[in-house]
Amino acid sequence: MGLRVVVLVLIMNCFFAFGDCTGGLELGFYTRSCPNAEMVVKMKMNTSMMSDPTTAPAILRLAFHDCQVDGCDGSILLGNSNGLTTETISHKNFGIHKLEVINEIKSSLETMCPETVSCADIIQMAAREAVSLTGGPYMEVLTGRRDTVSTSTKRADCQLPTANISVDKFIKIFKKKNISLEDGVAVMGSHSLGISHCRNFEGRLWPLPDPKMSPPLGRKLQLICKNQTLSDVAFAQNDATIFSFDNQYFIDILSGRGLLRIDSEIARDPRTQQYVYNFGQDTQKFFDRFSSGFLKLSEYKVLVGEKGEIRRDCRFRNS
Ligand code: HEM
Ligand SMILES: *[C@@H]1O[C@H](CO)[C@@H](O)[C@H](O)[C@H]1NC(C)=O
Ligand SMILES: *[C@@H]1O[C@H](CO)[C@@H](O)[C@H](O)[C@H]1NC(C)=O
Ligand SMILES: *[C@@H]1O[C@H](CO)[C@@H](O)[C@H](O)[C@H]1NC(C)=O
Ligand SMILES: *[C@@H]1O[C@H](CO)[C@@H](O)[C@H](O)[C@H]1NC(C)=O
Repeated sequence: MGLRVVVLVLIMNCFFAFGDCTGGLELGFYTRSCPNAEMVVKMKMNTSMMSDPTTAPAILRLAFHDCQVDGCDGSILLGNSNGLTTETISHKNFGIHKLEVINEIKSSLETMCPETVSCADIIQMAAREAVSLTGGPYMEVLTGRRDTVSTSTKRADCQLPTANISVDKFIKIFKKKNISLEDGVAVMGSHSLGISHCRNFEGRLWPLPDPKMSPPLGRKLQLICKNQTLSDVAFAQNDATIFSFDNQYFIDILSGRGLLRIDSEIARDPRTQQYVYNFGQDTQKFFDRFSSGFLKLSEYKVLVGEKGEIRRDCRFRNS
C-alpha cells in the first residue's frame, strides 16, 4: 500500500516536472507525424520573401503579437466566426499583415498531413525562418503547441504594448516570461527589421522633434509625416538596414536614431544602456542573447497535450 502511493507520487512528480521544465514542447515534435513540416515552412517562407521582402518583418512581429496575447496559441489568426471578435482589429495590432502566408503554409501542410501541425507552431517556425533568411541566427524552435479556440479584441487591447511604453513596463513584459533583461533588450533587436507608421512616432515630432532624437532624423521624419491625414499610410524605417537582421538597430538607437519612443528610451536608461552598447559592438553576443530570449518568448503560455485543438484552417476554430 505504502509502496504503491510512493510509486504513484513518483510518477506524478515526473509528469509534472516534465510539464514544468519543457512546457511540454519538444525539438522535432513532427519528426514522425509530418517529417517535412519544418522544411515546408522554410521553403514557403523563402518563396514568399523573394516576392515580398516585407514578409520577414511582418511574420516576426506576428509571432510576438501571438505570444503576447494569452500566450503562443495561434489566437491572432482567428477571424470573425462563432461570435468571436478578432485580435487583429485591435488598434494595438495596427500594421500586422501577411497572415495569408501562414494560411498558405497551413493549407500545404494540411494536404500532406491532415490535422497534424498547429497554426501556433507554424507561426513560430515561420518567425525562425524570417530571422534566419535575413541573416540572423538559426534557432532551435521547439514544437508541439496547440491552437486555442478563444480570442478577443479586448484582451489584445489590454495585453499588447503601445509604441510609447516606459522602460518599466518594457522590463515587466519580459520579466513575466522569465526572460532576463539582457535577453529582453536583445529581443528588441527585432526592430532591426521592418518599418513603423507615422501614427506610432508622430507624437515625438511636433511642434519640435524630441530633443533625444538626432536633428537630421527629426527633420527627415517631419518631412515623411508632414501630412497628418496620412499617418496610417506614411512610414519610416526601424533602422538603417531593415531587410537585414543585424546589430545596426543598437548602433542607431545609441546615436539618437531610435524611431519609436521605446527604442530611444532603452538606449538611454541606465538599466538597459550597457546591453545596447554591447550588442552594438558584438553581433555574436546579440545573436546568442536574442536566440535565448526569443525561444523563451515562443514558449510563453503554450497549450500542449490535450489542450486546445489542431485547427484545420488557421482562420477558424474547428467547431
Ligand atoms: C515590447 C515592446 C515593443 C513595442 C512597444 C513595439 C512596438 C512596435 C510598433 C509600434 C511597431 C510599428 C508598427 C507599425 O507602425 O506598422 C513595431 C514594429 C515591429 N516590431 Fe515591435 N514592439 C515591441 C517589441 C517587439 C518584439 C519583442 C518583436 C519581435 C520578437 C517585435 C518585432 C517588430 C517588427 C519585426 C516590426 C516591423 C513590422 C513590419 O515592418 O511590418 N517588436 N513594433
Ligand atoms: C531561397 O533559396 C534559394 C535557393 O536555395 C536561395 O538562392 C535564395 O537566396 C533563398 N532566398 C532567400 C530570401 O533567402
Ligand atoms: C501613449 O500613447 C497613447 C495613445 O497613442 C496615449 O493615450 C498615451 O497618453 C501616451 N502615453 C505617453 C506616456 O506618452
Ligand atoms: C527561468 O530562467 C532561468 C535562466 O534561464 C532558468 O534557470 C529557470 O529554470 C527559469 N525558470 C522557470 C520557472 O522557467
Ligand atoms: C494630405 O493627404 C490627403 C489625402 O491624400 C490629401 O487629400 C491632402 O490634399 C493632403 N494635404 C496636404 C497639405 O498635402
